[in-house]
Amino acid sequence: MQSIFLLLGLFADAVSASPLGQQPLGHISPTELPAGQLAEGLRKPVRGRFLHITDFHPDRLYKAGTSIDRSCHRGNGPAGYFGAEGTDCDAPLSLVNETFRWIEENLKDEIDFVIWTGDSARHDNDEKIPRTANEIMELNTLLSQKWISIFVEEGVRETSNAVPRMSIPVIPTFGNNDIMPHNIFNEGPNKWTKRFAEIWNPFIPEDQRHTFVEGGWFTAEVVPGRLAVISLNTMYFFDSNSAVDGCNAKSEPGYEHMEWLRVQLKILRSRNMKAILMGHVPPARSSEKKNWDETCWQKYTLWMHQYRDVVVGSLYGHMNIDHFMLQDNNKVDIDSKAHGKVSINSKADYLESLRNQWSSLPSPPSGIFDELDSVSDLGDLSEVEPAKDKRGKKKDKKKQKFLEKIGGPWAERYSVSLVSPSLVPNFFPSLRVIDYNITGLDDVARGADASTHAADDTTSGLDHAEIDTPETGDDSLTPPEIQKKKGKGKKKKPKFKVPEPPSSTAPPGPAYSNQAFTWLGYTQYFSNLTKLHEQLATSEQGDNPRIDYEIEYTTNDDVYQMKDLTVRSFFQLAARIGEEGVEEKQTEVNSQGADWSLSKKKKPVNNVWRAFVRRAFVGFPVDDLDDLDG
Ligand SMILES: *[C@@H]1O[C@H](CO)[C@@H](O)[C@H](O)[C@H]1NC(C)=O
Ligand SMILES: *[C@@H]1O[C@H](CO)[C@@H](O)[C@H](O)[C@H]1NC(C)=O
Ligand SMILES: *[C@@H]1O[C@H](CO)[C@@H](O)[C@H](O)[C@H]1NC(C)=O
Repeated sequence: MQSIFLLLGLFADAVSASPLGQQPLGHISPTELPAGQLAEGLRKPVRGRFLHITDFHPDRLYKAGTSIDRSCHRGNGPAGYFGAEGTDCDAPLSLVNETFRWIEENLKDEIDFVIWTGDSARHDNDEKIPRTANEIMELNTLLSQKWISIFVEEGVRETSNAVPRMSIPVIPTFGNNDIMPHNIFNEGPNKWTKRFAEIWNPFIPEDQRHTFVEGGWFTAEVVPGRLAVISLNTMYFFDSNSAVDGCNAKSEPGYEHMEWLRVQLKILRSRNMKAILMGHVPPARSSEKKNWDETCWQKYTLWMHQYRDVVVGSLYGHMNIDHFMLQDNNKVDIDSKAHGKVSINSKADYLESLRNQWSSLPSPPSGIFDELDSVSDLGDLSEVEPAKDKRGKKKDKKKQKFLEKIGGPWAERYSVSLVSPSLVPNFFPSLRVIDYNITGLDDVARGADASTHAADDTTSGLDHAEIDTPETGDDSLTPPEIQKKKGKGKKKKPKFKVPEPPSSTAPPGPAYSNQAFTWLGYTQYFSNLTKLHEQLATSEQGDNPRIDYEIEYTTNDDVYQMKDLTVRSFFQLAARIGEEGVEEKQTEVNSQGADWSLSKKKKPVNNVWRAFVRRAFVGFPVDDLDDLDG
């Protein structure tokens, strides 16, 4: 009973004369409330769904009917009312406004939080009208206001000019076009971290503001006490940011960022919490494209592996094409000084390079995944069903070998990063809704009002103590893969703290086995602007044209067939995409009614690969797709 009075005391300052039952819960982690004291009116049960949206690129200069060669700012041309789909033009406000209306009408009450991965200003692509810093801030403010107008806590806004309270968390991050000149981001604090701390004030938890001003990164508890979203400032990892130099040197902000991330994940593990990572520029690394400085990729991949019990998954934008990437922990070599840039070819070449990577994934013995799915205790597969005959034993050996190669039955050798396509209609405007497992979360509340989360004293204490204490001189903490590489006699110690792996008794994390917070699937939405503009031309739409988002695909459909979004499911999909095509005997129309196999009677065809490429371009008709191999 005492704690209830304490709580009332805490509330008293902010909201006098209101009964406890009407207060939003965001102030206090629900775990601090005595069991059974959650009043009905206080409950905000998790819904098991969130929105990922990225790369709006709003442009106030966009004019319908202008030339796409002039950034859709001038001249005469085909630029449409809602944008010039399939071009490099930025997004008109009509598209931005209508997208927010659609979100308000269709998603507002369905989602627990919003992941918003940057590039919320136009490109600097018009020599006649260069961008200004104020324009970048103003466009970011515009989008922030839109989120606030949808998700402001009812009845709170009008009462004061204080920071608006959000009914669900919205988590932003810096894009390479949210700064000037684009790509160049200096060590913080700087004018960008300071001004965005103001613009994003309602989105950054109070106890994270200092951190944000220092480095442009922060953590938000989206399900208090259970799930955090970590907003990375990928500008410090980005190869094109010439103001910084990777993650190895202690003087670099990238080094500091990785240290901070390591400590965050360590704290979350100690609190038995899980984390979603998000950022703008994804860690692409193939023969055709490398986005991050290699030293940052190395640490990131190692961190993902060591904290594989904590991290649920990672979400990025920037590349505007829908795809995913696997980070392979066997590619971690902590002594590497590799630099070297790979030039960017076309997007299709990049996708081909991913396919090439995936074609050399360890090849699964037939039936292995069905078997893994049906077995609940995966300690040792061969013990589950010991083979009796010689051939059976050989088969078992093959399976064991395969499992060793992929890091055990959960494929823990790998981690996955997802890239959502953009809102700006480089193809069609697009957004993604991700479903996650809410088993056992009946009594937890989703987060609200990031601005007033009580700072967790134990957390900040741990934070400082940890930073001052050397963690590993102990080789037992070095991942076995790395120990092996260094050979026996001379063990070189890494020049940074290698994070501790999960305890040997820890069950696999939500990225690896389906449990609370595991991503179950996503729905990709798009708006067919070509169709809309046709309708507008025949004035079917009237004075107040609206846009609609429709489902492009879901991850559990006939093509992707993903039963969840665990790493093993992505491994299977990647392996299927990497497979060689088979020759088609006769014309087939695939289950979605797409007819791209029509013209391909003789050439080998891999329909999963074809779908992957089509989806990369959000279903927009792209020239030359037919020329892609198989
Ligand atoms: C979009 O909304 C903003 C307010 O948020 C308004 O100022 C602007 O006129 C709208 N533009 C269009 C084209 O709807
Ligand atoms: C969520 O996780 C639980 C516990 O592992 C599992 O039993 C359940 O099937 C999962 N739910 C879904 C919808 O996959
Ligand atoms: C978009 O609309 C156009 C015109 O109606 C149509 O030809 C095209 O197939 C549609 N694309 C998709 C992916 O639905």
